[in-house]
Amino acid sequence: MNVETTSSAAAARPTEPRIRTELPGPRAQALIARDEAVGSPSLTRAYPLVAESADGIWVTDVDGNVFCDFAAGIAVASTGHAHPRVVAAIREQAGRLIHIAATDFYEPRYLEFNERLAAIAPFEETARVFLTNSGTEAVEGAVKLARHHTRRPAIIAFEGAFHGRTLGALSLTSSKLKQRAGFGPLLPMVFHAPYPRVRAWREGSGGDGTAELEVLRRSILGRLVAPADVAAIVVEPVQGEGGYFPAPAAFLRGLRDICDEHGILLIADEIQSGMGRTGKWWAMEHVGVEPDLVTTAKGIASGMPIGAFIARESVWTWPPGAHGSTFAGNPVCAAAGLATLELIEDGLMANATTMGDRLRSALEAVASDAHAVRDVRGIGLMVGVEFHTHEQANAVERAAFERGLLVLECGESTLRLCPPLVVDAAAVDLAARLFGEALEAARYPEPGPAEVGG
Ligand SMILES: Cc1ncc(COP(=O)(O)O)c(C=O)c1O
Repeated sequence: MNVETTSSAAAARPTEPRIRTELPGPRAQALIARDEAVGSPSLTRAYPLVAESADGIWVTDVDGNVFCDFAAGIAVASTGHAHPRVVAAIREQAGRLIHIAATDFYEPRYLEFNERLAAIAPFEETARVFLTNSGTEAVEGAVKLARHHTRRPAIIAFEGAFHGRTLGALSLTSSKLKQRAGFGPLLPMVFHAPYPRVRAWREGSGGDGTAELEVLRRSILGRLVAPADVAAIVVEPVQGEGGYFPAPAAFLRGLRDICDEHGILLIADEIQSGMGRTGKWWAMEHVGVEPDLVTTAKGIASGMPIGAFIARESVWTWPPGAHGSTFAGNPVCAAAGLATLELIEDGLMANATTMGDRLRSALEAVASDAHAVRDVRGIGLMVGVEFHTHEQANAVERAAFERGLLVLECGESTLRLCPPLVVDAAAVDLAARLFGEALEAARYPEPGPAEVGG
């Protein structure tokens, strides 16, 4: 597997975090003060990390502290930071052509990236691809295409979903109230169905989503919106921002059945779960359910801003001019994407399975007698540790940071570990050990009776 050993810096890489100042350090403190004076107050920095550089799974801050990165820039740095093959592809392409506007002109990297993505589409039918600049734009585009193709107005999404923050995608998002508050009116005819939040998730272990499917069939499609008015059901096969909940196979199969019954398109939002993170290109492949459209972004180009929506050939019935974008499919991003896909195929996807299993077991072991931990779950390198309360999750997140481990909260009280797919056994064991130390060291309030269970 050609992953971590190709960089000349690899030999000099740390094997442990190095924390040599109080956190944040003096340079970080000064920069944070400047940032906070000029940046949008809407940003919610998890902890005071001021990144200066990064290599593989190691992030160095402006004071020279070195952290082990199990956040990967929100599940983005899939091939590790600054993978030499990705950096070379970016450098080469930047020297050749930075921009041409794929909406108006042809360009080789654009079409090659489309070809590669079409080849890995999670359905049998021939695929076409539209490249975007971000995840939210991929969702916008997929919803536009679904509406245009079906000529139907309504969309069904799920409680706890995160699909992005532009107004169309935001209308589907429902993971946190503050993401929606104050922005209405949002898209009309968007309905949110319950999503099965199955704890202690294992294939075949109870919680199959039957009750949630029943609500969708009876309450939503039976009372609120006629199935013939619904263009698409949009689902994350593993709910990401909502708390790292993998959907049970029976639930996804049930959605496919409903779609087939009523001519509704099934859109799988794989922006967080796709690109090999769960050990297959797409999380949908674990359950053998084919969507009609799939969205991707995040890990697709190792940090360069690009996403895509991919749909079956038969869905692309919109005419020239119906959709476009000035920057989308930028050749430098597409070149980084091509290098990224090669690396994922060339070992990283398999590594995600092996290391994911190791990480989950190791976390289960360190959490086994931590009263604050409610559940450890996930597929591949998309692992969540759920606490009883947000305060507990937050305290452990901070304690992990202070020990040099970067993790990120999601949902109401879950810490996600979504490292670069290049992690090896030593890194996984290190992360689990640091996580265990953080669990022990965190000073969090004991949960009150009302906060336990449910
Ligand atoms: C499942 C999913 N969809 C959409 C998005 C939005 O992507 P972006 O932040 O690139 O717009 C995200 C981002 O977290 C996501 O996890």
